[in-house]
Amino acid sequence: MADTLAMGDHGSAGHGPKDKSKRDFLVMLPVAGAVIGAGAIAWPLIDSMNPSGDVLALASTEVDLTPIAEGSGITVVWRGKPIFVRYRTPKEIKEAEDVKLSQLIEPQPDSARVKPGHAQWIVLIGICTHLGCIPLGNKPTDPRGEWGGWYCPCHGSQYDTSGRVRHGPAPLNLWIPPYQFLNNSRIKIG
Ligand code: FES
Repeated sequence: MADTLAMGDHGSAGHGPKDKSKRDFLVMLPVAGAVIGAGAIAWPLIDSMNPSGDVLALASTEVDLTPIAEGSGITVVWRGKPIFVRYRTPKEIKEAEDVKLSQLIEPQPDSARVKPGHAQWIVLIGICTHLGCIPLGNKPTDPRGEWGGWYCPCHGSQYDTSGRVRHGPAPLNLWIPPYQFLNNSRIKIG
């Protein structure tokens, strides 16, 4: 990358197809960053820019939960994927627990989606199960949809505070990554 930048700085690079593709990549980076900031991009585009699979296969991610305010969530990266970690309010937990399973597109009780004794924390792979966009909803100011969880702006799918799909076209709930609590304020994903 350093070589690529140096060539661009001095304007002495050639003009063949290879050089054009390098310039295109440099232009693409800030554009991709802007779209990620908007929170609505198909994940495969970002995923294609990640390290190789053999490096990622070994990776696990530890997350300190203490900075996360009640009612908010953060996004961390694990094996190249966005992971939502959200601190649910008592109201959000109750809403998630009280739903009749018959109302769900993919019926699953909230208790099966959180760790025993840690119902205030929901940990999800933040990739919409429709076509792979990253839903919005971690920040309280984000659009969260009618069920208060996450909203995918790509085609309007909505998820509840358990990450279960409540309105399509997404066909499935948000997936849950393997994770464990190391203590009450720290989790290890992977
Ligand atoms: S990718 Fe989320 S609704 Fe289509």
